[in-house]
Amino acid sequence: MPASPILEMRGVGKRFGGLQALQDVSFEVRRGEILGLIGPNGAGKTTLFSTLVGLHRADAGAILLEGRNLVGLKPHRIARLGLTKTFQNVALFMDTDVLDNVVIGALLHHPLPEARVRALACLERVGLANIAHKRAGDLSFPERARVEVARALSTEPKMLLLDEVMAALNAVEMAEMMDLIRALRADGLTVIVVEHHMKAIMALCDRIVALSFGRLLAVGLPDEIVRHPDVVTAYLGRAYAE
Ligand SMILES: Nc1ncnc2c1ncn2[C@@H]1O[C@H](COP(=O)(O)OP(=O)(O)O)[C@@H](O)[C@H]1O
Ligand SMILES: [Mg+2]
Repeated sequence: MPASPILEMRGVGKRFGGLQALQDVSFEVRRGEILGLIGPNGAGKTTLFSTLVGLHRADAGAILLEGRNLVGLKPHRIARLGLTKTFQNVALFMDTDVLDNVVIGALLHHPLPEARVRALACLERVGLANIAHKRAGDLSFPERARVEVARALSTEPKMLLLDEVMAALNAVEMAEMMDLIRALRADGLTVIVVEHHMKAIMALCDRIVALSFGRLLAVGLPDEIVRHPDVVTAYLGRAYAE
């Protein structure tokens, strides 16, 4: 019998005024998988992440984390239950050092001295312990992306939502980030990755969910998704179909 999913979205909707940003979105995330979330700009990917972690409240449907409905819970409660996202366009506190940026997340579970120890361990996990005392505003793009991952890790998630963490990276840096994401999965995390680079998504993900105009277009294996006529039409164009 297959293991029960770690996360289920059932008919989730989210409206901003007259704009239906998410409509009737239903899919499951399997424990321990790396799931890709793709779709054109404005498809609702970031809104989906924000709704999962409670920054937006779903106005229809249910979001079940290990069977428990998250809809209506505050973001810190959802983080405590083990679901955390990074922020697109990395929102670090630029005037403080890297360690302090990560300590903020660790304070969710631990008082200050212990939080600092945990935060340092998270920086070590992403390969940045050596720059713990660098000013966040002085970081390179790849360093910032890793700090953002460390900050998410510091909340001790079961499930990590990565929103375009590879956006500003070159090919080598991207490959390193993909290795890190795979290592985190090997540690036991479940990951959803929003990413525009299809090569990265194809190489990294066990399955892919495609969104367009807030609706689910398709869910499937990477090979199925790049050939799916609706996905090709809405997002990929002809290049990937051939
Ligand atoms: N806080 C908000 N208020 C109003 N509209 C929003 C808000 N956040 C996102 N939107 C709109 O919702 C749609 C989906 O946006 P978003 O989730 O950011 O898409 P993606 O991340 O896939 O590019 C867009 O049309 C966007 O303009
Ligand atoms: Mg987005």
